[in-house]
Amino acid sequence: MLSVLINERSGKTPMPANKFNGHTDLGIGIGLRTTHYQQILDEKPAVDWLEIISENFMVDGGRPLEILDAVLEHYPVIQHGVSLYIGSCDPLNKEYLKKLKALTHRTKAPFISDHLCWGSVDGESSHDLLPIPYTFEAVIHTAERIRAVQDYLEIPFCIENVSSYAEFNASEMTEWQFLSEVSERADCGILLDVNNIYVSAFNHDFNSYDYLHNIPLQRVAQIHLAGHSKFEKYILDTHDAPVKDEVWQIYAELIEHIGKTNTLLEWDASIPPFETVHKEALKANLILEAKAKRLSKSA
Ligand SMILES: [Fe+2]
Repeated sequence: MLSVLINERSGKTPMPANKFNGHTDLGIGIGLRTTHYQQILDEKPAVDWLEIISENFMVDGGRPLEILDAVLEHYPVIQHGVSLYIGSCDPLNKEYLKKLKALTHRTKAPFISDHLCWGSVDGESSHDLLPIPYTFEAVIHTAERIRAVQDYLEIPFCIENVSSYAEFNASEMTEWQFLSEVSERADCGILLDVNNIYVSAFNHDFNSYDYLHNIPLQRVAQIHLAGHSKFEKYILDTHDAPVKDEVWQIYAELIEHIGKTNTLLEWDASIPPFETVHKEALKANLILEAKAKRLSKSA
């Protein structure tokens, strides 16, 4: 009977805005990285918003919080976590959640996010974002944990699709069905990483647009863009280069359906100067403006 959980969506119908999509559009942001701290603090460059890695600031005091407070004086900040491991079977880490909640009070982020993955066993962390077996049991398990986290934090929580390089024989549904069922059952938002869709589509031989057209797009509160590295038989999600054309095309299709939505460029290795990262992120404006023009012509 659990198969009633599967709810294929018709695809090209525009999705209505809801509490996750539309009400907190901050514009186009970039990830706050240590190499750019000084420039951001000194020059306060014009960027719509910054995303922080929550764990870097879940400390009791000192330099990280001084920097964060200075940044918060000038920029909206959204928190993105990397070690909640929401799909793991370990009990939720109460101490971690307590620190995470304290940080949300500091940043006043409109929502926070972490990955739809697992990564710890018996308290030992893999420090990797590992894909979950896409089973009905895992849907229920993961959604229950997201609800518990969201209730405790008292702000909307978004799950991000990860890139992956292996799949489980035990899976009973596609990745996009899994993302859909978890987010609907948990009533949470989605941080849709468009590059991760493309990377996993290549690695596992599915169509990125099948993914895009069969998830609850009204739940997308934020979008991630990033560069990747293509090898002969696989793509690695390296975050060390400009966004590839194919990924921009998926982004354009997404924007066609959901309109202007918080968009963030991730650049985490071989990080170039701030201006280069920001310029790459602002390319998203070309797509957003093209959509706005089409809308005004048809009005
Ligand atoms: Fe991402």
